[in-house]
Amino acid sequence: MALREILKLPDKRLRLVSEPVKRVDAGIRALVDDMFETMYGAPGIGLAAIQIGVGKRVVVMDLSKKEDTHKPLVFINPEITWESKEKSSHEEGCLSIPEYYEEVARPDEVKVKFLDLDGKTHEITAKGLFATCIQHEVDHINGVLFIDHISKLKRDRVIKKFIKAAKAAKAGKTAKKVEA
Ligand code: NI
Repeated sequence: MALREILKLPDKRLRLVSEPVKRVDAGIRALVDDMFETMYGAPGIGLAAIQIGVGKRVVVMDLSKKEDTHKPLVFINPEITWESKEKSSHEEGCLSIPEYYEEVARPDEVKVKFLDLDGKTHEITAKGLFATCIQHEVDHINGVLFIDHISKLKRDRVIKKFIKAAKAAKAGKTAKKVEA
């Protein structure tokens, strides 16, 4: 297991469409281990592989609040097969867009088809926060971020802020090198 670096906005890799997993093998299981360690370490409730720079359709999630009741969930090649007309709003955040939260309206209930760590197919119904979270993560593997669901004005503002922060961090690094 290893703690991996989480890509942040405006990293272009966050916009890539991830590839389906062909075979659930030891490599995928090791990736999932790293993803859990990284997600719990952040801490966060969901993480897609592309957020650690791996373009595979793998998602991990844990909606339990306390550490002693961990409920790790793994979704390989998740696919939304049905969504309710009824919508619900949740305040969303993202480990790739730290400390930024906005209300997003999404279908309140969805059906999700996916493979488990043994390569077995499942289809489940998710509702409420669970539905929001799985839709947020499936968006990630399609190169979509939750800020794509908010107004253009707000989105442009947050993207600008993160571009500025990334430039400042880069300048900081260069300055240190010059100093040395
Ligand atoms: Ni996210």
